[in-house]
Amino acid sequence: MVKVKVFDSTEAKSRERVLDPAPEVDSKSFYDIVESRRSVRIYTDDPVPEEAIHRMMDAALKSPNSSNLQVWEIHWVRSAEKREKLIHYCLGQPAASTAQELFVFVARPDRWRQNNNRMISHLKSTPGTPEKAYQYFEKITRIVYNQGPLGIFRPFKWIWFTIRGWTKPTPREPIHRGHMNVWAHKSTALACQTFMLAARAEGFDSCPMEGLDSSKVKKLLGLPRSAGITMAISIGKRAQGGVYGPRFRFPKEDFIHQH
Ligand SMILES: Cc1cc2nc3c(=O)[nH]c(=O)nc-3n(C[C@H](O)[C@H](O)[C@H](O)COP(=O)(O)O)c2cc1C
Repeated sequence: MVKVKVFDSTEAKSRERVLDPAPEVDSKSFYDIVESRRSVRIYTDDPVPEEAIHRMMDAALKSPNSSNLQVWEIHWVRSAEKREKLIHYCLGQPAASTAQELFVFVARPDRWRQNNNRMISHLKSTPGTPEKAYQYFEKITRIVYNQGPLGIFRPFKWIWFTIRGWTKPTPREPIHRGHMNVWAHKSTALACQTFMLAARAEGFDSCPMEGLDSSKVKKLLGLPRSAGITMAISIGKRAQGGVYGPRFRFPKEDFIHQH
């Protein structure tokens, strides 16, 4: 890593930052992966090597995530007994029953404080951490994500954000548990996508599944009520007829807006 002096206009001063140089990449490989990823509902009996799965999970955990608080979990369901139950709770859909491997991606909004403390410890043990980074995890995250016992801070946050917002751009969320859930699911869903693209990069296929009984899946995995099931993901090699039809998308003009 190369250290460079950069001018930070917001602080109006220069200081040392780590420059992580952007390596050359092969864009064709990336777009081949994106194009060839399809939701696969029927898999072959080909096993997925364990090392490939570890690489896919490592890639997933490198996904961007809010405040780097990593409020996600990957549950790899390996035991035959739990696997049978998970397939049942995924409504017996073939994308689950024919899969070689099954995963459940879980959002953990309840982990924000614990991970925030871990982040502070990490920064403290990292020489040269800028003061602003401490401040972010010592002060800002503790205001933004803390809803108080039984959500007691909610109305005060709403009033504060609303009044402040009259004169200054002000983040309006999260101010209740629903917002916290959305917040955690956003980052976890990015991990899901990285995982599925990594599966394709390894020569395998995937299917995301939200057609499941989240309450029973949580119980199966020993998760608390505050955890959220983002989706289950099955992995394997696509079988003949495993992709149900050609890919269809509405015209992109319906979705892309330029301002
Ligand atoms: C959050 C989410 C949940 C999904 N749930 C299911 C599911 O339960 N069962 C299923 O067969 N496909 C499921 N899918 C796959 C979609 O049907 C599929 O992505 C969509 O039809 C587009 O097809 P493609 O992935 O092949 O491009 C899900 C996809 C997402 C993103």
